[in-house]
Amino acid sequence: MDRATWTAVDNYLNGLLLPNDEVLEGVLADSSGAGLPPISIAPNQGMLLQLLARSKGAEAILEIGTLGGYSAIWLARSLPPGGRLTTIELEPERAHIAHQNLERAGLAEKVEIRVGNAARELPRLIDEGAGPFDLIFIDADKPQYTDYFRYALALSAPGTVIVADNVVRGGEVVNPESEDATVQGVRSFLAAVAEEPRVTAMGLQTVGSKGYDGFLLAVVN
Ligand code: DHB
Ligand code: MG
Repeated sequence: MDRATWTAVDNYLNGLLLPNDEVLEGVLADSSGAGLPPISIAPNQGMLLQLLARSKGAEAILEIGTLGGYSAIWLARSLPPGGRLTTIELEPERAHIAHQNLERAGLAEKVEIRVGNAARELPRLIDEGAGPFDLIFIDADKPQYTDYFRYALALSAPGTVIVADNVVRGGEVVNPESEDATVQGVRSFLAAVAEEPRVTAMGLQTVGSKGYDGFLLAVVN
């Protein structure tokens, strides 16, 4: 079993189950053309986030790591009238591309892109009295995941769903000696979640067009 098979199955499942979406395809093409790395979530992962948000009736969503806005579009489409997505992006050029992509998707009014290091923007949100958020998606620099998780908790209420991307890293997450800072960041994050009595959580391995990785899913008790 290899990535070609996983991709073929993703294409089969997505061809059957996901609507054809020229906006999202254009967003990916333009993000790639603008030089963004191809590290957006996969389409079915986007639909998973959207379905989680819908099933929760989420009205306030927080995303840490916007990139080109691909996952933000999936999430923002779940919002009811008046609902809002706040998304934090470190790189101004990426935030600019994301803004254009959200405009193209007709979602710019529902989405606030905050430009800056999330380790600074998240405490600002807390100071501003933002939240609680109904769903929080963590998908930014892995070495800071533990900090992001702690801020996410401060912006949560009982029932808040917290999802984190990239917690398996091709299986390298099981290697305590890994010299990859992203792996060590994910391992620290998972340990922090495990020790946190305020959440109930699980990790899920995934394969597909984005290779072998996984999600962490937690709900605030
Ligand atoms: C990387 C980051 C991601 O969020 C992802 O989904 C895949 C790869 C990266 O920085 O390499
Ligand atoms: Mg990711």
